[in-house]
Amino acid sequence: MRVLVVGGGGREHALVWKLSQSPEVEKIYCAPGNAGIASLAERVPIEAGEVEKILDFVRAKEIHLTVVGPEAPLMAGIVDLFHEDGRLIFGPCKEGARLEGSKVWAKQFMIKYGIPTAAYEVFHNAAEAYNYLQKASYPLVVKADGLAAGKGVTVAKKYSEANKAVRLIMEEKVFQSAGNSIVIEECLEGDEVSVFAITDGESYITLPSVQDHKAVYEGDWGPNTGGMGAYSPAPVFTEQLARIVDEKVFQPLISGLKKEGISYRGVIFGGLMLTADGPKVLEFNVRFGDPETQVLLPRLASDLCPLLYEAARGNLSTVAPLRWSEDAAVCVIMASRGYPGKYEKGKEIQGLNEVTGLNKTMVFHAGTAFESNKTVTAGGRVLGVTAWDHSLKAAVEKAYRLAETIKFEGAYYRRDIAHRAFK
Ligand code: AMP
Ligand code: GLY
Repeated sequence: MRVLVVGGGGREHALVWKLSQSPEVEKIYCAPGNAGIASLAERVPIEAGEVEKILDFVRAKEIHLTVVGPEAPLMAGIVDLFHEDGRLIFGPCKEGARLEGSKVWAKQFMIKYGIPTAAYEVFHNAAEAYNYLQKASYPLVVKADGLAAGKGVTVAKKYSEANKAVRLIMEEKVFQSAGNSIVIEECLEGDEVSVFAITDGESYITLPSVQDHKAVYEGDWGPNTGGMGAYSPAPVFTEQLARIVDEKVFQPLISGLKKEGISYRGVIFGGLMLTADGPKVLEFNVRFGDPETQVLLPRLASDLCPLLYEAARGNLSTVAPLRWSEDAAVCVIMASRGYPGKYEKGKEIQGLNEVTGLNKTMVFHAGTAFESNKTVTAGGRVLGVTAWDHSLKAAVEKAYRLAETIKFEGAYYRRDIAHRAFK
């Protein structure tokens, strides 16, 4: 089978890496890929958002399956385009992608289908929002409706913080039209956990739990990023909680999508808060997590290809139960100094050869490129240094030993990834 993976980050490197181990896969292309992906797949110089060009490429190369990494092409309707052309693609249609693309829509969907989530109000103009904030009790959470690169959420401890968030989103339009509407919701307390389900719109298979670390600094402090590290499994997520989430979140979600007539053949990522009143959904994403995928796929003992292929075909129920290794996995993100703000690119990365091929480790590339035969930094998140082992502690030690070997100017990483598992 010829497979195209769309995207060029650490998540896509993990998908390409796992697919390359499949006996079913004869050739992998990746658009646009990165320096690490180049050793496993043929890179295609098309950006992930160029959906028409991607379809043209798939036609020309007679690709059997396309797997979409990031959300932007899903929201741009890549799946609808492929379906009109009779092509197999792993991902939800444009309407299903609204679960991530519009927080207002996602909230309304959750309420309609009885999925537990924080109580909320929606506002379409700033004056009404300020008015509400004056009478509200704190803390509360202000969210831009649309996509904001993970920066659209403010947990406000007091009025002035909430007021500032509304001003930035609705008046200064820092996220452009993503801030035309906002959600103001109850602040939930508890441990956060990410749970993924692969679905073909009829049945679904949930994957093991993951925790990621969104804040840039140690101790979960500072601005939120796309994720500074992750580990799996999350010990707080017991089998009993998994059953509750299955019954209260994924069952009503999948049957709700079906009732709405929404074609969803892809992955759904639930960001959950484990509150004293039970698990509640903070958000849904319509794609694999980054860096969550980098810790999930090394633990998957089954072939990834039939899972994605049969989900895309609407035949997920024919897939054999997935086998998972007992190992725990951790991923430490090495970022460029300044991320998630401004950062420099083009710094040579050293030490990559020394860490290649070590037992149960993998350095997934995110923002990397080749420049005069050297691997250089090309993004905020540069590498996902990943290790897995019989215990989380052993995996963490191994990942940090690797990270110390890899050097580039301005390299920054958190030293406390997975700390929550040991508290
Ligand atoms: P989201 O993009 O909706 O996942 O929000 C980003 C982060 O904001 C989450 O990972 C949480 O840490 C936090 N957050 C979002 N919604 C809430 C909420 N209702 N209560 C407390 N924290 C929240
Ligand atoms: N790591 C969080 C995300 O992929 O959205």
